[in-house]
Amino acid sequence: MIKKFLLYTLSLLLLFSCQEQQPAPSILWGGEMHNSNASTPESIDASLDLAVSLGFNSVLAPVSWELLEPVQGEFDFSLVDYLLKAADKRDLYLGLLWFGTWKNGESSYPPLWVKADTATYFRAPTCVAEKTSPISPFCAAAREADVKAFKALMAHLKMADKTRRVRCVQVENEVGVFAERDFSEAGIKAWEESPWSRSDDPMAPQYFMAEAYARYVDAVAAAGKEAYDLPLFTNAWLAPADKAYGKYPNGGPREAVLAVWKKYAPHLDWLSPDIYGPELREMCAAYGEGQPLFIPETNCQAGRFWYALCEAGAKGVFGFGYEEHFDNPYYTAECKVISEMLPLIAEGHPMRGFVRIDKKDAPDAVETLALGDYTFNVHCIEGEKNAHGIIVQTAPDEFTIAGVGAWIDFGPRVQIAFCEELRDGKRWQVLNGDETGHHNMLYLRGRLNIPEDGPYYGLSYQRRFRPAYQELFKVSGIYRLKLYNL
Ligand code: DGJ
Repeated sequence: MIKKFLLYTLSLLLLFSCQEQQPAPSILWGGEMHNSNASTPESIDASLDLAVSLGFNSVLAPVSWELLEPVQGEFDFSLVDYLLKAADKRDLYLGLLWFGTWKNGESSYPPLWVKADTATYFRAPTCVAEKTSPISPFCAAAREADVKAFKALMAHLKMADKTRRVRCVQVENEVGVFAERDFSEAGIKAWEESPWSRSDDPMAPQYFMAEAYARYVDAVAAAGKEAYDLPLFTNAWLAPADKAYGKYPNGGPREAVLAVWKKYAPHLDWLSPDIYGPELREMCAAYGEGQPLFIPETNCQAGRFWYALCEAGAKGVFGFGYEEHFDNPYYTAECKVISEMLPLIAEGHPMRGFVRIDKKDAPDAVETLALGDYTFNVHCIEGEKNAHGIIVQTAPDEFTIAGVGAWIDFGPRVQIAFCEELRDGKRWQVLNGDETGHHNMLYLRGRLNIPEDGPYYGLSYQRRFRPAYQELFKVSGIYRLKLYNL
């Protein structure tokens, strides 16, 4: 009887522990939805289904002010609720993007009752003919309206997000004005009263605008945090400080004005770069200093993800508009490899990452990476479409390496003791001979594009650096190896 009772209790305990939700991932990886894909239940479902098939653990999804508060003071949370349920159903985590007063420096997302009332919610003229004038960051009425809406959103999330799907919220999107300064009446007055106007520093207008936007965004963030204490951030449209005014939204948290943002927006937990250019390494370094590195937007290219996660220690990285890459074999297959590696990456082992950046690095670039007692000389192979990868140290002499388009030597007195290629966490092949240069190197030959259900799936090609093989579609392979000193 007692035995039966114990067995019953044990099975109940087991059942409940199985049903318990897994802890949220420490690294968020996935994609940012296209701007309009969270605007109906149907498109939310389609985007999230694709996210699941790509192996993402999370998605960044917009919440637009115009759909949230179509009538002043009347909130419609139905889309937000749908999004929460849809993510929960698929075991995905979310970052929400608050498209409030500004998106890409423009003001197209506020509700019509804000946009049409240009007397109350006044605009900042731009110096670019094709741009519309965005709401001025000196408009207190707009700020107060945005504060109320964002606070309502955060209060609702606190109550409705029972399974804590939302891990962070971006406040506004790529703010700034396409001009040297805000030339609205209020903007001109603020400039005249500001110490920045008495400075000889040519950067003064940029600092001044950064302060204005930072103060506005901080007021919105502070109200949101008061309602629900989630990590908050905002993102930058990157542009060098010497770029002509009008060519980028001036005032956003670009690298040149990060210090101003940190000072005037203390309620933001970090500032994020949207990195689309070749400056990936520099921007990861600049935005990873003294704050978590979180990249809400980058190109849907695996090398960028590998680098950000494993070399720069990013806590979040997302490919923008992943939906349009659903049939890109390089992207979709690499996503699968990343999702295979993510649990190991999240364990926090020492690791390095590398990527050959197009139009910046030499086609046969060589990089030396130190890890533990070993040195890894990474040689990108000229002619290979992609060259990128990561090295994770799992024990003093043991490493898991994922990558493609490069080969790695370990210096003259170090050899491979054992090497295997993994797929789905299982041994695919034990590598030696031609494949490892007789254990002097590791060739990241990658996975071939052979249909998994076809007769040739078991084949792998052997030869190194044969130009004919460079034409074959190859995606990162995963290799586990042990090294020893001669
Ligand atoms: C940056 C913006 O933040 C995104 O919402 C999107 O518009 C992309 N640019 C398009 O490339």
